[in-house]
Amino acid sequence: MKKILIIMAMEAEAMPIIEKLGLKKLPINEKLHSCFPRYRGEYEGNDIIISLNGKSKEYGVDRIGTEYAALNTQSAIIEFFPDLIINAGTCGAFSADANIADIITTDQPAMYHDHRVPIEGFAEFARGHYPTIHRPEYFEGVDFKLGVVTTGSSLDMPQIDEEHIRNNKGMAKEMECASVAAAAQLHGIDFFPIKSVTDLIDVEVDNVEQFLENLNKASAKLGETLIQVLKNISN
Ligand code: ADE
Repeated sequence: MKKILIIMAMEAEAMPIIEKLGLKKLPINEKLHSCFPRYRGEYEGNDIIISLNGKSKEYGVDRIGTEYAALNTQSAIIEFFPDLIINAGTCGAFSADANIADIITTDQPAMYHDHRVPIEGFAEFARGHYPTIHRPEYFEGVDFKLGVVTTGSSLDMPQIDEEHIRNNKGMAKEMECASVAAAAQLHGIDFFPIKSVTDLIDVEVDNVEQFLENLNKASAKLGETLIQVLKNISN
């Protein structure tokens, strides 16, 4: 039996998957002062844990972004010692690479497009290059694209970020993957992302508008894909 930890930022994306998998909410672990909602259950012979970044007490919204993704992943690793970590979520993509609700994973290191420290050694460190694994058999029966997943702290794309994304051949632009990958690397745990496209980052329509309009469609595709991948992992 494999123990698989799935890190997700948005509750609305996660709940339909949690229900389909039949996972049960775990009590808060007082010893770890865990503030991340966690759900666990057996699915197709594997032990599945979905850990959410949780809601901001101050603003009432999901704690999206790099900081809480890293904290969530690190504390879940210490609590569960998983064999494999998956980061499931949504992303933006260039119109030449993908359509709305397409699935993107990677066979290349995860990196940041907005960590710029132009000092020898620190530049590469800041950009990341955190390991990922790609097992084609996990994606059998799934329509997906392979490309670089690139992480930053903003939904918009200023020109300097676009330059870095293009230089790094980024395909999926999102806000968690490199942070989850960094925590996985610290503990030597296999990791890969599954991202579904909510918005095209180089078209005229505002990407916030696109994101909100396409979130349900992209989330449904993300859920279907994640469940297929979990089935494939157990075969
Ligand atoms: N998640 C979904 N779309 C995104 C975008 N355009 N940038 C960052 N994160 C995203």
